[in-house]
Amino acid sequence: MPKNYAIVAKGLKKSYKKLEVLKGIDLRVEQGTILALLGPNGAGKTTTVKILSTLLAADDGQVTIHGYDLHKEPDGVRSVIGLTGQYAAVDEYLTGRENLEMMGRLYRLSQADAKRRSEELLQQFDLIDAAGRSVKTYSGGMRRRLDLAISLIAAPPIIFLDEPTTGLDPRSRIAMWEIIKQLVGAGATILLTTQYLDEADLLADKIAVIDGGKVIAEGTADELKQHVGNERLELTIAKGSNFQKAQKVVDGEALQVDSKRRLLSIAMTGGVKHLQEILNKLQAAGIEVDGLSLHKPTLDDVFLQLTGHQATKDDVAEEDKK
Ligand SMILES: Nc1ncnc2c1ncn2[C@@H]1O[C@H](COP(=O)(O)OP(=O)(O)O)[C@@H](O)[C@H]1O
Ligand SMILES: [Mg+2]
Repeated sequence: MPKNYAIVAKGLKKSYKKLEVLKGIDLRVEQGTILALLGPNGAGKTTTVKILSTLLAADDGQVTIHGYDLHKEPDGVRSVIGLTGQYAAVDEYLTGRENLEMMGRLYRLSQADAKRRSEELLQQFDLIDAAGRSVKTYSGGMRRRLDLAISLIAAPPIIFLDEPTTGLDPRSRIAMWEIIKQLVGAGATILLTTQYLDEADLLADKIAVIDGGKVIAEGTADELKQHVGNERLELTIAKGSNFQKAQKVVDGEALQVDSKRRLLSIAMTGGVKHLQEILNKLQAAGIEVDGLSLHKPTLDDVFLQLTGHQATKDDVAEEDKK
C-alpha cells in the first residue's frame, strides 16, 4: 500500500441473502483529503461505510485503514476512525456537555482531558450556549453537530460521515460544510457519503460515483464533468421570431426545448465552428436570437449520463422524512 493512502478498499462484496448489495467496490482515499461517495438511495453507501468501520463484515475484499488490515486488526482500525451517521449513541436525557464527557471517558481520556476536549468541541461546533441543556431540546442541526463532535472526542485521523447533511435546513447544511472543511484543513482524512451533487462538488477532492453496488466513475469534479464533455449552448429566440420555425432549423440538435421561455438548448459538439453554423442557419431563416450563453456540464449532467437517471428529488424527500 502506498503510504499516502489512508483508506484502501479492494473488491468489496456484500449480499443480504440473495440481494447482492456491493458488487466489488474499489476505493482509495489519500491522506488529508475528502472522498465523496456519491450515489442515490440504495446505492450501497451505508453498507460500504459500515464495512469500512468494522460494524459489518464483508463477504469478500480487502481493506487497509491507516495501515491496519480491517480483517486482522479491527481494533487498530477502530482506534483511528470516527464514525457518525445513523448509528452514534447520543443520550437524549443528558446534556450535550455530559454526552461528550461521557464519551471521552469511554475512550479512556482522564476526567480533566475529557472535560478540556469537550469544551474545545462545544466551542468549535457552536454548541456552547446549548451545552447545559438536555439533547431532547436540540434542533436537527444541533444534534447532527453534537453527533459529529462526539465522534471526534478521541481526535481520530480518519472520519466517516454518512450523509452528514441529509434532512438539514440550508443554514445547518452550510454550518456542517464549514466544519467538514475545518476538519480536513486540520489534517483529517474524510470519507463522506452523499446524494447531493452540490455537496460533493463543493467539498470533495475526489468523487466516486456509486450506483447499484458498483463504482461507476471516479475522479475530481472537473474530471467527471469533462467526461460528459460537451458544453451546452442556450439560445433565446426573440419574441418577434417564430419559435417553432427556429426549432425546425436546429432540428435534431436541440437537447431541450422550453417554448415558454423561448429557449433552445443544444449540445456543442463542434466548437466555435459549430456555433457559427447554428447562428448562420438561424439568420438565413430570418430568425433573430436575443441571447446566447454557454454552460459547462454540471455534476447533474454527469450523474444523468452515467446512470440514466437523476439523483432524484424524490430520493431526497424520502430521506428527509426519516
Ligand atoms: N440489513 C439489511 N438487510 C437487507 N437488505 C439491506 C440491509 N441493509 C441495506 N439493505 C439493502 O441494501 C441496499 C443498499 O443499502 P444502503 O447501503 O443502505 O444504501 P445507501 O446508503 O446508498 O442508501 C439497499 O437495496 C437496501 O435496501
Ligand atoms: Mg445510507
